[in-house]
Amino acid sequence: MAIYIDQEKKLFTLQTRNSTYQMKVDEKGVLLHTYYGEKADESDFSYLIGPFDRGFSGQPGDACGDRTYSMDYYPLEYPVLGNGDFRVKALLAGPKDGPAALDLRYASYELWDGKYDLTGLPALFAGEDTCVQTLEITLKDLYREVYVTLLYGVFEEQDVITRAARITNREKEVWTLRRAMSLGLDFLQGDMDLIHFYGKHAGERQLERRPVMHGIEEISSTRGASGHHHNPFMILSGRDTVEDYGACYGISLVYSGSFKFQVEKDQIDGLRLVGGLNDEEFVWELAENESFVTPEVVLTYSGQGLTRLSGNMQSILHKHLIRSWWKDQARPTLANNWEATYFQFDAKKLLQLAKEVADLGLDMLVLDDGWFGKRDDDTSGLGDWFVNEKKLGCSLKELVDQVNGLGVKFGIWMEPEMVSEDSELFRAHPDWALQIPGRAPVRSRDQLILDLSRKDVREYIKECIEQILSSANIEYVKWDMNRSMDLAFNVTEPGVSQGAVRHRYMLGLYEIMEDMLTRHPKLLLEGCSGGGGRFDAGMLYYSPQIWCSDNTDAIERLRIQYGTSFGYPMSAVAAHVSACPNHQNGRVTPFKTRGICAMQGAFGYELDLNKLSEQEKKEAKEQAAFYKKHQALFQSGDYYRLNSPMDERAYTAWSYVAKDQSKAILSVVHTDVYANPKRIRVRFKGLCEKTSYRINGEVYTGAALMRGGYVLPVPECAYDSCMLLAEAADILQ
Ligand code: GLA
Repeated sequence: MAIYIDQEKKLFTLQTRNSTYQMKVDEKGVLLHTYYGEKADESDFSYLIGPFDRGFSGQPGDACGDRTYSMDYYPLEYPVLGNGDFRVKALLAGPKDGPAALDLRYASYELWDGKYDLTGLPALFAGEDTCVQTLEITLKDLYREVYVTLLYGVFEEQDVITRAARITNREKEVWTLRRAMSLGLDFLQGDMDLIHFYGKHAGERQLERRPVMHGIEEISSTRGASGHHHNPFMILSGRDTVEDYGACYGISLVYSGSFKFQVEKDQIDGLRLVGGLNDEEFVWELAENESFVTPEVVLTYSGQGLTRLSGNMQSILHKHLIRSWWKDQARPTLANNWEATYFQFDAKKLLQLAKEVADLGLDMLVLDDGWFGKRDDDTSGLGDWFVNEKKLGCSLKELVDQVNGLGVKFGIWMEPEMVSEDSELFRAHPDWALQIPGRAPVRSRDQLILDLSRKDVREYIKECIEQILSSANIEYVKWDMNRSMDLAFNVTEPGVSQGAVRHRYMLGLYEIMEDMLTRHPKLLLEGCSGGGGRFDAGMLYYSPQIWCSDNTDAIERLRIQYGTSFGYPMSAVAAHVSACPNHQNGRVTPFKTRGICAMQGAFGYELDLNKLSEQEKKEAKEQAAFYKKHQALFQSGDYYRLNSPMDERAYTAWSYVAKDQSKAILSVVHTDVYANPKRIRVRFKGLCEKTSYRINGEVYTGAALMRGGYVLPVPECAYDSCMLLAEAADILQ
């Protein structure tokens, strides 16, 4: 049992293996948040909240006379506008033509075994052998028939608690929501660091850590996608928390659209976090008996540092969010033709690539952009999802059959959400694009976005996808999305707010992906948005892997993949070996190093395999063979960051350790070289102390490798690297 309810005290205590989360209904029916942190017991923690007569902090109507009682500094479970709380709020709601105001009080609860789901939205699921409990706490406005049900899913063993909220209008008149967040989370002690992952196109998820100061900090996206620029995963940690020490909270929003996290340090040094949908231009109407359901947030607490926190996140997303048939299968190693040919290809060239794919021992050829409509550059053709047979020189089926004939699987690129103005689709349906009549649209990569909030548009896209997928043996789709959504106006329903259209768009996108995967359950979907512009937990519900960045430079990837590892499973990180000089930054790195970096995730190649030298081909064959031999370890081993590429100039190291500790792979990339160098000793993590491990013919105890470390060979050139396989000596005999 994970959820304890003391009926008399109206105390709700959620227990996981290593953490405790508690709420209490006070004497006025207000739901207080009393504790979240290191595992405790079911004691009533409300004694920690000292009532106090605090100037300029008012009392709700029914607390008249008691100046020590104020929503303005009490830790609240779901803060709203309307009861005298002046901090950031989770919910702003009111009658359509009236003021936003709520004062939520406890109404009832329900407790049941299993995990709630959020119809139409991605969310964690229980799975067959996992004990999960759901708690629903319903609050009601003091004055009106408006209800908020807070949903909690407790994954006891995994140290994870999920949250979402359902807002229901039982009034006759229409109510509007102007902000409806997934959670509020109050901490009495706000002395914390905020760790978040900012970035840009070709430079996603850069870790930044800073102390939370007084005022309001925001991590958000208004781009209609989670975006390259901020990620909907963040961490609140103790000031002294490091990889293996200290308290920290991981917060991951299961949503792929515009989002907002706000962190406020208040007048008495408490801290409040609210997070969920971005409320810019958001007005959602609720008619009588209608409900609005927010996206889900996944919370995990670690009292033992960031490594444990990442392990919790990686494992819960892998086991309880990713549904793909492929999640525990060896993912196909692939070669993508984008950086090999860009738009200049025909079937002959693709078959030459496919032959190399077979020769190197890889599994799949992926045909990227340019195979459909009129698409020889990125200014036209999006929306016309019919094969350009003239360009290919044959039908798609003929091409795929020939590729398959070489023993190679076939995958394809699509960007179904978009339309080029120079396309047959746009000429036929200009109103299908998101734009405001009378205003020139903002163009980005010369393309507009289709209005997925419209059913007719969704049906068209579903049909296009189905026609392509059923026309040939296509086993993988790279689903791209190559621009930000600025304005979101639905011409058929001009009264709907832009924020609401943005959210409906996301629901529409999820519906289309669900439809595609229901029809093709064994299809491997790889998410992409100009690289990692939609790398979020929402997408992982559909695509078990995501193209991590359009930046394929091995050295810049170190930071991108490092940042990504904090909140996401490494099996989700698609990474490829590309050509040198690198196409994005001109850097030259050894082939070996590019291979080692790409093996950090779902491995592949993105260069003209026909142009490899004999030596490179030999290395590529060895890389493919090594990756496949140890694929289970790369895909599902425990992942350790051994140092930080943000702080350390000389080298970056990481490792994978098998769950049974029988083997480990440690990778090191030298990011700077020195004359007369000092020797670098890298300490392994996660090995069994008493087991002997063999590395390059020498035997070391786990304790020695973890305490003393392994002495690295001196790098022989710029960006040199090494990968060490440590195998338990006894299983070698
Ligand atoms: C995006 C993707 C690339 C490639 C191009 C094709 O930028 O991230 O990998 O598919 O589109 O246009």
